[in-house]
Amino acid sequence: MKKAILVTGSNGEIGSQLLASMQDSPITKIALDINESITNYDNTIYIKDSITNSENIKKLFNQFKITEVYHFAALLSQTAMNNPQLAKEINEEGSKLIIDTAFESGSINKNFVKFFFPSSIAVYGPRKLIKAKETDIIQPTTIYGKNKLLIERYGTKKHEESHQNNAGIDFRSIRFPGIISPYTIPNGGTTDFAPQMLHAAAVFLLKNGEEEYECKISADTKLPFIGIEEAINSIIRIMNMEDIASQLRSFNIQEISLTPSQIIDTIKKEFPNFSIKYNVEEKLQSVADTWPDSLNCEKAKKEWDFSTQYDHNSFFMDYLIPKIKKHYERN
Ligand code: SER
Repeated sequence: MKKAILVTGSNGEIGSQLLASMQDSPITKIALDINESITNYDNTIYIKDSITNSENIKKLFNQFKITEVYHFAALLSQTAMNNPQLAKEINEEGSKLIIDTAFESGSINKNFVKFFFPSSIAVYGPRKLIKAKETDIIQPTTIYGKNKLLIERYGTKKHEESHQNNAGIDFRSIRFPGIISPYTIPNGGTTDFAPQMLHAAAVFLLKNGEEEYECKISADTKLPFIGIEEAINSIIRIMNMEDIASQLRSFNIQEISLTPSQIIDTIKKEFPNFSIKYNVEEKLQSVADTWPDSLNCEKAKKEWDFSTQYDHNSFFMDYLIPKIKKHYERN
């Protein structure tokens, strides 16, 4: 049987960047997404389908020897809030289906399928924590946070079961903060204002876009963030570890914590005529108020060498702004 890696949600912000980072590897990748694929890499089989199609998922595991799964397909926090039933189907039932099928495949083949699950700061709540540890109070108030926590726990349970049976899945997960990518503009999430603001400023200056961004989160709401490059590096690092002995399977990571007003102050250094207007939306604000202002990342540093090189200034000046300028000059 041919070895393969399965990436679900392969068109999404994280999925597409991870797939790009694997494009030179000779191993077969199966890229599964509900939409028509946006790339055309070698050694990649594109499948347009839902992760809830159990027949198809089982067929893939029967056809290929899937050694690693990167399961990104999901509805983000605001989209989930607007479609709770669909969120349950995709974020919970779909995820359980992929975990169960990977577990069965590992059990039959007497090996471990490495399984990566992107969790989120949305598992925290109901109060805003500072330097939240993995084991701090986790009582999510949103449907999305509840979905993520349920799958963290389900994956961890299946991981423990696998270790007792010496076969099944090796579950690894990261609780992502807001992700800022110079290449894509997300929507449907609560932390999207940060990347949206940066892209709006770059488009305004480089392509005559709108000169004002309407921010729906209050100026002083602090949230943790990470750049897409470090998010991808971290996924690769945690998955490349031979073994993570820790019972903890979901780790916090972040690069910096930012408020909308700090972001605009920094962006203005580069794009001085760009401005921002606040029009706080309760639906977003009430979620942001339950997510941590910052994360304690000691466990990730200790267990799988998570590291970051940026401070507030260099995050923008040395990383995001040069990359976003290059991106819009090219596209
Ligand atoms: N960034 C995501 C959101 O805002 C959280 O994981 O929904």
